[in-house]
Amino acid sequence: MPFVEKFVIHGGKRLEGEIEISGAKNAAVAILPATLLAKGVFTIENVPDIRDISSMLQILEAMGAVVSYISKSAINIDTRNIKSATVPYELTKNLRASYYLLGALLGMYNIARVAMPGGCNFGGVRPIDLHLKGFSALGAMISTDGGVVEAKAHKLIGASVFFDKVSVGATINVILAAVKARGTTIIENAAREPHIVDLANFLNLMGANIKGAGTDIIKIEGVSELHGCDYSIIPDQIEAGTYMVAAAATKGDLLIKNVIPKHLDPISAKLRECGCIVDEYDDAVRVTATGRLHGCNIKTLPHPGFPTDMQPQFTTLLALSEGTSIVSDSVWDNRFRYVDQLTRMGAQIQIEGKAAIVQGVPSFKGAPVKADDLRAGAAMIIAGLCAKGTTEIEDIIHIDRGYEDVVRKLTAVGAQIARVDFPQSEALHTQKRA
Ligand code: UD1
Repeated sequence: MPFVEKFVIHGGKRLEGEIEISGAKNAAVAILPATLLAKGVFTIENVPDIRDISSMLQILEAMGAVVSYISKSAINIDTRNIKSATVPYELTKNLRASYYLLGALLGMYNIARVAMPGGCNFGGVRPIDLHLKGFSALGAMISTDGGVVEAKAHKLIGASVFFDKVSVGATINVILAAVKARGTTIIENAAREPHIVDLANFLNLMGANIKGAGTDIIKIEGVSELHGCDYSIIPDQIEAGTYMVAAAATKGDLLIKNVIPKHLDPISAKLRECGCIVDEYDDAVRVTATGRLHGCNIKTLPHPGFPTDMQPQFTTLLALSEGTSIVSDSVWDNRFRYVDQLTRMGAQIQIEGKAAIVQGVPSFKGAPVKADDLRAGAAMIIAGLCAKGTTEIEDIIHIDRGYEDVVRKLTAVGAQIARVDFPQSEALHTQKRA
């Protein structure tokens, strides 16, 4: 009989203590495929131990890279004997970020064939038209057949690329394709997320010439050769933000370590607005909440605005705070699916177009719920930690994509949460892969 896993949470415990943050998922899923741009040896530290990373490493191995673990968070990758530029379909379909293989392989071999990515889709379409437009600007021919995208060029030539919408993925993909192109590429209206800066720093250590990452104009001078290097990935801003909100929601007191406080500014500012104390140290933040917080309004925006990947978690906090809050997501069209689950626990939230009107309630009641996607799953955990009684979260496969050791980390600060096997036939919700 097939078994699946769920989280069982006995809520009502105040989180107190210290949590260590892992490496950034969204930086790592770009940096790992970037190793394909050189035939070399890499040592990469602060790699998060999560499912998206094991998926990406499996893909690299299937292509001929040799991957070995130095420790739980440090790996060696040897790309000297990559034999195949073909990416196995079975391995890409569960990983949204597999689209970075397009940019990396196009940049290295002038040809890339990758199946359209899987991963979280927030209930809507996640287009990659901007990525493809960027590749075309560099001289690539694009075709799609049976869900597989092919990009090929005789030789990529640097060009000006203007994005009419800010896109993290398209910015990263064009950087990957342009680092070895002939001449200069200028990306205008580029995304400015910390993981874009991290990728650019990594590529520059490999011998690339990228300037302006972190601003909206990025200039890339193509180089002919790149080489292996040693690198340490930045801490995960969203994992840190999730635990900051968990501390606030449980009226707790958490010291969150291994973070870059500057990356957390938009989250810290909103927590303070709600009545939390947020203290910043060199590489840690401490979040303390002594009573019920009050609501605030949130609008998600590209960095340095409030991150859409923190929207479900923060909305959960607002649903337990005093007064009415309005949350609007201007990045994704349909990122409020999880609200149905929160409603089962007693939340009062109304969706109007791209906004949620949140009427704070004093408490939630535990219920069986599911993780619709990665961050929706994180929101369910926060809701369960605060709820009276027991919350069971199904479809936790989504949460495992992006949160390392979530049970261990939360248990160490006082949560009662367990991972439990149960027969798939008893699942209330269909278990799907991300
Ligand atoms: C990345 C993050 C994801 C986060 C998102 C926004 C990774 C692996 N994932 O996703 O967690 O929620 O940034 O911060 O880093 N768009 C287009 N055409 C395109 C590409 C995007 O219209 O070709 C639109 C999208 O539909 C969306 C917006 O642009 O409305 C932003 O998307 P984008 O920044 O590209 O998100 P991802 O890179 O996919």
